Amino acid sequence: MSVNHTAYTARAHSNIALVKYWGKADTAQNTPAVGSISMTLDGLFTTTECRFLPDLPEDDITLNGSTPSEIQSERIRSFLDLIRNRAGITSRARIRSDNNFPTGAGLASSASGFAALTLSATRAAGLSLTATDLSALARRGSGSAARSIYGGFVELPCAVPGNHRSHRDDPAAIQLFPQEYWDLRMLILIISTEEKPVGSRQGMIRTAETSPYYRSWVESAEADLRDMRNALQTRDFQKLGDIAEFSCFKMHGLMLSARPALLYWQQATVTAIHELRHLRHQGIPVYVTIDAGPQVKALCLPEYLDQISRVARSIPGIQHVLETKVGPNATLL
Ligand code: PMV
Repeated sequence: MSVNHTAYTARAHSNIALVKYWGKADTAQNTPAVGSISMTLDGLFTTTECRFLPDLPEDDITLNGSTPSEIQSERIRSFLDLIRNRAGITSRARIRSDNNFPTGAGLASSASGFAALTLSATRAAGLSLTATDLSALARRGSGSAARSIYGGFVELPCAVPGNHRSHRDDPAAIQLFPQEYWDLRMLILIISTEEKPVGSRQGMIRTAETSPYYRSWVESAEADLRDMRNALQTRDFQKLGDIAEFSCFKMHGLMLSARPALLYWQQATVTAIHELRHLRHQGIPVYVTIDAGPQVKALCLPEYLDQISRVARSIPGIQHVLETKVGPNATLL
């Protein structure tokens, strides 16, 4: 493989799971124990420049203008090693990566981050991979990153044998529907931008090892995926919102049943859930979803966006509110 030392820049958009992934089938391969379905977000993205340089003594990584922590750097270096091995090169890389949104606060920066890194670094290493191969590789960095290779509505199948959608042991995401398929909107209610106390990797291991509910979580996932595919197929917003809330609260119930419990919510998270439910009972179709962090995401149709946004901004403890449409595929710039 030839490395031409040129810098390649890629952009990948974040995504939020509508059917959640929590738990690994294989920790080393980072394969998910449950499938997931997400919506790619237009307004939240990572832009990453990568270049391999023969004279660099070690990888030189800058995230959002600063040097990352040793843990973050190690995670990125091991990921770059996968690419170096595949390309048959040994050069170290210079990486510059910027998010246009707060990092590490349950806003899935690892999803867009590893997807953008996968695309830019494989190109810079002289590889030209298919979207499927890029997605499977991005998954090694972060499970949710496999989904950020694609825009629109995306499914990452699980790796458990017997699941007819994934006989492979190296799962890649597939695009169910493209960006233009359905104009859904998401509001992101920012409650705290502090780093989360337990990262998803550790959190998933703890849950699988200690929760008495883990088995039911894994066994019940396929029904949610089937129902979500169906809700998307028929563009049934109420059904989509209902399954998204169910999957989200089931995941947080599971997290709370780990020992010690994984509690990602803050006080304002609970307040926001109540306020948005109240709005729904008044006839406004809005549904919530929450990841491994305190932020509350509200799903809605475009015609209700302004009204929901006004209410969201008035909820005590909400620092600010981001609004986004469905986003595109990851691309080289
Ligand atoms: O892929 P990770 O390690 O960022 O884990 C993602 C976990 C959740 O965001 C909570 C759910 C999901 O499917 O994105």
